[in-house]
Amino acid sequence: MKITKAIIPAAGLGTRLLPATKAIPKEMLPIINVPAIQLIVEEAVKSGIKDILIVVSQTKNPIIDHFDYNYELQQRLIKKNKKELAMMIKKIGDIANIQFIRQKEPLGLGHAIKCGKIFCGNDPFAVILGDDVVKNLPNEKPALRQCIETFLKTNSCVVGIQKIKKELVNKYGIVIPKDKKKEVEKIFTLKGLIEKPSITKTISNYAILGRYVLTNDIFEALEKTKVDQSGEIQLTNALKILIKKGKKVSACQFTGKRYDLGSKIGFVSATIDYALEDPEIKNDIIKLIKDKVDK
Ligand code: G1P
Repeated sequence: MKITKAIIPAAGLGTRLLPATKAIPKEMLPIINVPAIQLIVEEAVKSGIKDILIVVSQTKNPIIDHFDYNYELQQRLIKKNKKELAMMIKKIGDIANIQFIRQKEPLGLGHAIKCGKIFCGNDPFAVILGDDVVKNLPNEKPALRQCIETFLKTNSCVVGIQKIKKELVNKYGIVIPKDKKKEVEKIFTLKGLIEKPSITKTISNYAILGRYVLTNDIFEALEKTKVDQSGEIQLTNALKILIKKGKKVSACQFTGKRYDLGSKIGFVSATIDYALEDPEIKNDIIKLIKDKVDK
């Protein structure tokens, strides 16, 4: 069985990065010169995904434009003898088979996934969140690929996790391993999940970091998932329903450096790290940082 479909929810408001996100979707903010959502789509493609559904909202049309051709710009670049740039922007339109759907109300991640029911049909599918960019070393598999391989091994829904600091648990979906001893392993079965628990309540500090592989019965669970105190339908709570029904849900501790692009610090550290790998500017950036430190 192959996982070839993915949903990318991109309908959120991006309040933590206002005013930058007042008129620009947070997913379009660039890491150097590449919009974050393009990095996410590239990770999906490298993981074997062919068909992508991006769930957008009313203010997210620049995302749709980004994955379309821009024939006029292409022609202008060709006329200016910038054929390579013209090819590069055209390639973005060919990256994958990308479709879009609008989430008409801001009812949370679970509701955004529900918008993909027809797109997924009976197939299992991946979910990858735009806030969580993961940079893998050249010899590592992409984070989503690691989760897909866990799905194929365990034949169960999978959430991609990493260990986070205890004081941050109230910002994430937290997973509870079934067998405490198995926690050290890269893959383990879950006893439960809690969406954004209070710091005092926490039983583990393994956080779901924006990568999921789900089976079709998640849609039924999402139908049964009640709106929470923040007025949203949580994907975490739908997964909890599946566990309660006796379905196996697994966690994959993926490797790679993860950046929370919805936060100022995550955004800046991603920018620095990607800049340090960009051959065009790498040396200048090192010099710039050195000069600042020396002062
Ligand atoms: C969502 C999920 C949460 C997950 C997080 C990862 O929360 O609900 O379980 O840990 O993404 O970034 P959000 O950040 O949309 O509030």
